[in-house]
Amino acid sequence: MDKLIIEGGVKLKGTIPVSGSKNAALPILIACLLAQGTVRLTNVPRLRDIFTTLKLLNILGCETTFEDNTVTARVTGLKPEAPYELVKTMRASVLCLGPLLGLLHEAKVALPGGCAIGARPVDLHLKALERMGARFILDSGYIHGICGGLIGARIVFDFPTVGGTENLLMAASVAKGCTILENCAREPEVVDLANFLNACGARICGAGTSVIQVEGVRQLSACEYRVMPDRIEAGTYLVAGAITDGELKLVDCPLDELDALVSKLREMNVLVERQEDGTVLVRRGGELLGVDVTTQPHPGFPTDMQAQLMALMCVASGSGSIQEKIFENRFMHVSELGRMGARINLKDRTAMVRGVPQLVGAPVMASDLRASASLVLAGLVAQGTTEVARIYHLDRGYERMEEKLSAVGARIRREKE
Ligand code: UD1
Repeated sequence: MDKLIIEGGVKLKGTIPVSGSKNAALPILIACLLAQGTVRLTNVPRLRDIFTTLKLLNILGCETTFEDNTVTARVTGLKPEAPYELVKTMRASVLCLGPLLGLLHEAKVALPGGCAIGARPVDLHLKALERMGARFILDSGYIHGICGGLIGARIVFDFPTVGGTENLLMAASVAKGCTILENCAREPEVVDLANFLNACGARICGAGTSVIQVEGVRQLSACEYRVMPDRIEAGTYLVAGAITDGELKLVDCPLDELDALVSKLREMNVLVERQEDGTVLVRRGGELLGVDVTTQPHPGFPTDMQAQLMALMCVASGSGSIQEKIFENRFMHVSELGRMGARINLKDRTAMVRGVPQLVGAPVMASDLRASASLVLAGLVAQGTTEVARIYHLDRGYERMEEKLSAVGARIRREKE
């Protein structure tokens, strides 16, 4: 296992390129199962979750290549079973239920694992697919679904689930008739998936709003598509610029998708501005101030930026609070930040953060993807050395993180544990 060693206290200066979005690339790759011919996807980040998805595609009968940041995918003969060895490492595998049921009328997918941030059931995916005619049984840790062909339906999600909306978009694209999805997730990654499916010939309207209409088509055909830039990676580097009191420029930063974060950063006294050359500049505009934040489905504040913003609040003046409304157990970074001198009081789903003048480096342990990022950010500003262990989580979601940070002056290196 690898760890990151960070010597804190350097003001980061320079330019960081933003990679393609992991959370958009994952469903788009799985949607390749639906297309006839060879799909070509560009701007795909080279991350562990992407390699896992490519393995999954191979097992399901889709041949892939991955060079630089371009994936090609071609279905040669679909198979219905996604084995536990793969699914346990990545919850997004459950997204193949929709395409497999749509095309093969059968799917056998292990119950997912992924980040340990709460129970994360898939009941909403199953309930919605049942409305389209699928039937499920749980068999030795596998969800086994069958149907006699999916049929369009009106489906109202109990909660705007991102994965659930994506699964149903794929299923409905090849179902018989029209599907209306209500109370859908409005995340930009849902829109990117819908754009990809439409480029393959699907007929989806309304993605990005809470009501999406899908007219099923007989078959989809391959296309070429560029995956959107990663708004969470971009947001993490915006915080990196602010926390180190540096000045960073981000290339390919999807600023329009970052409204909720940027407005909180501005409240904290951080300047975030689009430059004439298209890059996004971040630096402090004065003393950092605490803020109150509540995570919400998009366009609210993203849960995937909660841990990173908390690291920033740890070194702000005064106090602030973070309420986590999406996942019940997403505060594992709190005790680790505490080991670095942060003053955070946790009660139920709310963290009260009182800023301290200085964090102090310490050995800490990453527990999930975004928690790992928050510990790296804290390490960048802490006095002395921070060792972040178990960074395999980080490798699931940040492409070349230590390389990108080193290039703007951070003293950060990877070592074997
Ligand atoms: C996706 C993102 C993840 C992000 C999350 C919320 C990917 C690969 N992952 O995860 O990074 O943190 O959106 O923005 O895109 N829920 C149920 N039943 C279900 C489905 C969800 O109870 O069937 C609950 C979950 O436990 C959770 C909440 O709904 O509490 C949100 O989950 P969801 O929006 O589905 O997140 P994911 O798609 O898993």
